[in-house]
Amino acid sequence: MSATSLPHPHAEKREFAFAERDFRRICQLIHDRAGIALVDSKRDMVYGRLSRRLRALGLDSFGDYLDRLERQPEGEEWQAFTNALTTNLTSFFREPHHFDTLRGQLQQIDRGARGTVLLWSCAASTGEEPYSIAITACEAFGTLTPPVRILATDIDTQVLETARRGVYPVERVAALDADLRRRFFQRGTGPNDGRCRVHPALQALVEFRPLNLLAPRYDVGGPFDAIFCRNVMIYFDKPTQRAILSRLVTHMDAGSQLYTGHSENYLHAADLIQPCGRTLYRRNFGTPAG
Ligand SMILES: C[S@@+](CC[C@H](N)C(=O)[O-])C[C@H]1O[C@@H](n2cnc3c(N)ncnc32)[C@H](O)[C@@H]1O
Repeated sequence: MSATSLPHPHAEKREFAFAERDFRRICQLIHDRAGIALVDSKRDMVYGRLSRRLRALGLDSFGDYLDRLERQPEGEEWQAFTNALTTNLTSFFREPHHFDTLRGQLQQIDRGARGTVLLWSCAASTGEEPYSIAITACEAFGTLTPPVRILATDIDTQVLETARRGVYPVERVAALDADLRRRFFQRGTGPNDGRCRVHPALQALVEFRPLNLLAPRYDVGGPFDAIFCRNVMIYFDKPTQRAILSRLVTHMDAGSQLYTGHSENYLHAADLIQPCGRTLYRRNFGTPAG
């Protein structure tokens, strides 16, 4: 018996048969659709999350589910499939040094003719990142109505719903400074005990929209003064990262900053972006012809 045909350790307990070829097919489909390169260690996660879809649709096998998906390339199930397979881990002020840098950047920006500072969180997940950007903007300008627009996008429509609602378990904000919590979050009472919601002034600064970074072009306008593209490229292979970066830079000008995740490395894209700080990049406009 070859290693690949060994039964999975949990196979006997499973409600649905989950063969190696099912997993491989899923890997290919999510890679083509969202760029996500699933690793073998995600097998149980994939089984668990997609089993719910099989149950919801009353299907008995992964094969039937995947056939159905492929038969309807524009069908609604694709969104549910994608939502099920994304990893949405995030937190308020994750990688806090970025928000210190952003604050300094905002205080120095020459708003010029445009008047409004444009910021983009392009893998916004459940909203903690764009709301942290919004709080930073309020702090930088000393007002709840700073001259800032924040676009927050993600491929996962379910996390965007949570983000739009702006309601979180209080534990999500427990580590934040008490004064900041008091000014930017409203604590729920009665049936909302244990929850808090972001100040409506923050919600007013952010527009949430679905966007797949794999799309051939991004209909988002710009140029943006800052783009937060953090902890999403780690799920993509290098050619996909390059393709995404080559589109992102078209939404940056000479003053724009690209904020990236702590474990993302772009040495392979030095022709597109150049480091200008800790996990911070500027667009590389190339050396002018001499
Ligand atoms: C781990 S979260 C990172 C959230 C936040 N940027 C942070 O650093 O805390 C990754 C997010 O990327 C999103 N994502 C994955 N593939 C995507 C794609 N092709 N286009 C847009 N967003 C994608 C996921 O839905 C998820 O919400």
